[in-house]
Amino acid sequence: MSIRRLPPHLVNRIAAGEVVERPASALKELVENAIDAGARRISVQLKAGGIGGIEVVDDGSGMARDEIALALERHATSKLPGEAIESVSTMGFRGEALPSIASVARLTIESRAAGGEGWARSIDNGELAGEGPAALPPGTRVVVEGLFERVPARAKFLRSERSEYAACIDVIKRLAMARPDIGFSVEHDGRRVFALQAEAQTARVAALTDRALAANSVAVDAVREGIRLGGVAGLPTFNRGVADHQYLFVNGRPVKDRMLIGAVRGAYADMLARDRHAVVALFLDVPTGEVDVNVHPAKTEVRFREAGRVRGLIVGGLRAALDAAGHRVQSGERVASLGSWSSSHEPRHPGLDPASRFFLDAAAGKRDAGSEARLTDVMFDYRPAARVEPATAPAQSFPLGVARGQVAATYIVAEADDGLILVDQHAAHERLVLERMRRARAGGEVASQPLLLPEVVDLEEPACDRLEARSGELRDFGLDLERFGPAAMLVRGVPALLGQTDVKGLVTDLADELAAYGEALSLKERLDHVAATMACHGSVRAGRILSVAEMNALLREMEVTPHSGQCNHGRPTWIKLAHDDIEKLFGRK
Ligand SMILES: Nc1ncnc2c1ncn2[C@@H]1O[C@H](COP(=O)(O)OP(=O)(O)OP(=O)(O)O)[C@@H](O)[C@H]1O
Ligand SMILES: [Mg+2]
Repeated sequence: MSIRRLPPHLVNRIAAGEVVERPASALKELVENAIDAGARRISVQLKAGGIGGIEVVDDGSGMARDEIALALERHATSKLPGEAIESVSTMGFRGEALPSIASVARLTIESRAAGGEGWARSIDNGELAGEGPAALPPGTRVVVEGLFERVPARAKFLRSERSEYAACIDVIKRLAMARPDIGFSVEHDGRRVFALQAEAQTARVAALTDRALAANSVAVDAVREGIRLGGVAGLPTFNRGVADHQYLFVNGRPVKDRMLIGAVRGAYADMLARDRHAVVALFLDVPTGEVDVNVHPAKTEVRFREAGRVRGLIVGGLRAALDAAGHRVQSGERVASLGSWSSSHEPRHPGLDPASRFFLDAAAGKRDAGSEARLTDVMFDYRPAARVEPATAPAQSFPLGVARGQVAATYIVAEADDGLILVDQHAAHERLVLERMRRARAGGEVASQPLLLPEVVDLEEPACDRLEARSGELRDFGLDLERFGPAAMLVRGVPALLGQTDVKGLVTDLADELAAYGEALSLKERLDHVAATMACHGSVRAGRILSVAEMNALLREMEVTPHSGQCNHGRPTWIKLAHDDIEKLFGRK
């Protein structure tokens, strides 16, 4: 064995293995460089999902001729004037990105500093391919082509044009959200994807996420020990099937940090089903000494000196913001466990309606002065929420009993021979629809109900691509849709057994579902997810008044349907308070 020092081109190629995983990672480095150069406008052009080429143009500081050459050398950076990596405030600092990309692609930099001349330099897979004068306005233009063409081991791992495109868009979105003060425009294969002027952060977040988020979210603003948390948090009811809609930033840097994602999950824990995810855009400002950004080659993970403090701030800040949303949070109340049926001397009132609880809490001085407006909301919102059906003796006894009434337009109260039964009507119905859907699938095609007016659903392009690619399988489930322009789908029919459906919600969730599991799961598993998503949309919503006949029909179907005791999210669909238990509660036993 002989040890040798590796030549620079090999060193670069090894570094590229870490930094440049796919077109989106090269794009990320180029856009970050443009941001660091103080650009006011950044425009991006992609070809064939970035596989065919990436071009990033900025109007930032630009570089002089000798700086361009230096920029392409390894470990050359203008961003660490001192020794202190911990106080770095730029996106880049390693001086690795450009030489790494240039070692696995053809890369051309054209740049011009204000008051200077333009110059261009091209590198082809690590070798100088040419240089000379270039005509361009002050700023920089970087073009990357033929990524991995000469690195077959890497090229093999490139996914479809569509997946690579989706990853590129995700990268730009996150960077654009981090820097709303910069204008961004993006084109793909000559078509405009988006063009954003400099704007306020909330406007930028709204433009890059779901348009409905604004109406379904609360502002977050919390400070603890020098760390600040800002941004918006979606209401628990505005949840999604995948976690892709969580945008997290630390000191202006988009991160996909596990600790942070876990903290968000913790904050929503008892308000969301395990497989549903909140939509959030959260910006953390942390003193630079408190966070290490040099722990991940692509800098998407960070390490906090006091992780517990950051976690506490996120959980506490999100909870405070969501609590302040009060009654808007439809599913925000903790499900009262059976334990709270027992009487207690604690000054808490878990079983009361929101208005009474509000008054009691106010009397106890728990609410702040600014909550008057909410008080009025609650008062106007309050109406009796229970309905009772006359008790007629059941002709026959049923395991789940006979419906006696409905509480809060959400729970069915039934009387069984041996106790009282409460049914969560939405959870139960969702389960029934899923089982019906499975049975229908097993017996062939699920019948489709044509819509009177086909509905156009606007979605992002990658989402449309996914739906279009799977339209055949979706048709087997009774969902009849086709592509309608670059960023919309036309829905012609929905599964007949879903009944009246929120078509947009259904299609959006399915697109999310396909994004999350589309390539990873087997066909059968995928179909199960699709069926579950559809079932959720076809179900009787909480909040719908049901007739006695409807309630009893639901109970009877539950009795004969497998797995009907738990909803698709693993929560119970019904609970029982046996006569025995009731007697114990009243101290009769
Ligand atoms: N668009 C640009 N405008 C002006 N200068 C640039 C631009 N892109 C790169 N540079 C200069 O080239 C240098 C090297 O860039 P490169 O991306 O390789 O490293 P870096 O940004 O310093 O660190 P990192 O590897 O962490 O990204 C930068 O430090 C910067 O001085
Ligand atoms: Mg860089």
